[in-house]
Amino acid sequence: MQNVVDIARADDRSLPDWPVQSLRGNRLAGERYTSREFFQQEWDHMWTRVWLLLGRESEIPNPGDWQCEEVGPESILMVRQKDGGINAFYNVCQHRGNRLVTGEKGHVNRFVCRYHSWAFMPDGVLAYAQDAEDFPEGDPCGKVNLISLRCETFAGFIWVNMDPECASLREFLGPIWDDWSRYDLHTWKRYVALTTTLPCNWKVVLDNFNESYHVPTVHKPIGTPEERKRMHSGVDTNYRNTRFDLSDEGHNRMIMAGGYAGVSLNSDGTIGEPLNSIMHEWGLNPADFVGKGDETRAALQKAKRTLGPAKGYTHYDKLADEQLTDAFHYTLFPNFAVSLWSDGFHFLRARPHPSDPEQCVFDNWWYASQPEGETAPIRTTVGIVPRDHECRHEVFAAGEKSMGRTIDGDVEIFPLQQAGFHSRGYVGSYLAGQESRIRRYHELIDDYIAGRRPERVNGSDG
Ligand code: FES
Ligand SMILES: [Fe+2]
Repeated sequence: MQNVVDIARADDRSLPDWPVQSLRGNRLAGERYTSREFFQQEWDHMWTRVWLLLGRESEIPNPGDWQCEEVGPESILMVRQKDGGINAFYNVCQHRGNRLVTGEKGHVNRFVCRYHSWAFMPDGVLAYAQDAEDFPEGDPCGKVNLISLRCETFAGFIWVNMDPECASLREFLGPIWDDWSRYDLHTWKRYVALTTTLPCNWKVVLDNFNESYHVPTVHKPIGTPEERKRMHSGVDTNYRNTRFDLSDEGHNRMIMAGGYAGVSLNSDGTIGEPLNSIMHEWGLNPADFVGKGDETRAALQKAKRTLGPAKGYTHYDKLADEQLTDAFHYTLFPNFAVSLWSDGFHFLRARPHPSDPEQCVFDNWWYASQPEGETAPIRTTVGIVPRDHECRHEVFAAGEKSMGRTIDGDVEIFPLQQAGFHSRGYVGSYLAGQESRIRRYHELIDDYIAGRRPERVNGSDG
């Protein structure tokens, strides 16, 4: 379903700042990542009260198509309806609790439980029960139906909330809705889908994607020491030049200027890869920029602005200039991070393990825009793939397969940090200003546990 975009007009290309938030400054103790009690509190008061991105509309195009996703101990079924809408249900038979479906996706006329053959229609209504006359409480058909959850769509994704009293998805997403509406993300296609279990708490993953303080050390960019301090992959990662925003609703945004030659500037001053190829794609001659690596960003913005729409990049008309070149890194409370580029959506999500606070499920996906007539290959986190590539969801054990050089660097740290959280010698975090997004995230979790919602969500009490 297409979302109505009312803010993203060609004459409105500015990106307003988000409001300043006050932080309490708590230290983050190791037991937040190891304690079963805290894990249970998070489940009871936070996971079951927030909007969770669980599915993709294009995965279930036809009535009766279903997709199923696990979150902690729950399994959630999303089903395309006759009227084109999507309903979400707990994946549990109402007879005696058997899982109704196994696997990731499929198509049904009716969901038939394997145990005693109760059959539920795609709208959740029980249509058949064996020996229906033999139930002292009455025939269960039409009465004992699947339990549904709140379900909405945005940016082509299916979002689900276990709290029947929750605020709307739009209210929950706040300014994310406006920012992302500019990209026409519902038309983007998935090119990478890698899922693994990690031996760490889910927050270890989110903390990592909530700061770029680790980038110069963990990701070891090439180049001179000065360049390493400032640039990674043509993006200026220095916190002094980075824009940080924390929304009232609890989501974070970090904007780092990109499209520079930076470390891809060869020692003789010529423009290196991948910027060299990107400039050619946009009708720019890298030879004109020898020794002028700082000028490539503005030139690229201008070229994309001018040539984009005619080349099929129709969303460029709605993007702000910085959205054409820069790295927009979002973390959406509670559990996923996105690096959003003009034509790439790097999706990183951590889901809690069903019972163990020291494990999580980690997804690393890549979506790309689909400009009509474009044939250039797609640059993804795991390399360059052809535009017509059919993506297969790969699920594997930790370390069994590379997730791409950058993410592998992050993932190698996670178990070491998780081990450190058990130490009697760890007295809690000591956070830098540029790590404020971590601080805020944890304060929100504490607020949810205490029964408070962030301002603007659910008519907060503070
Ligand atoms: S548990 Fe599903 S039909 Fe009995
Ligand atoms: Fe990283």
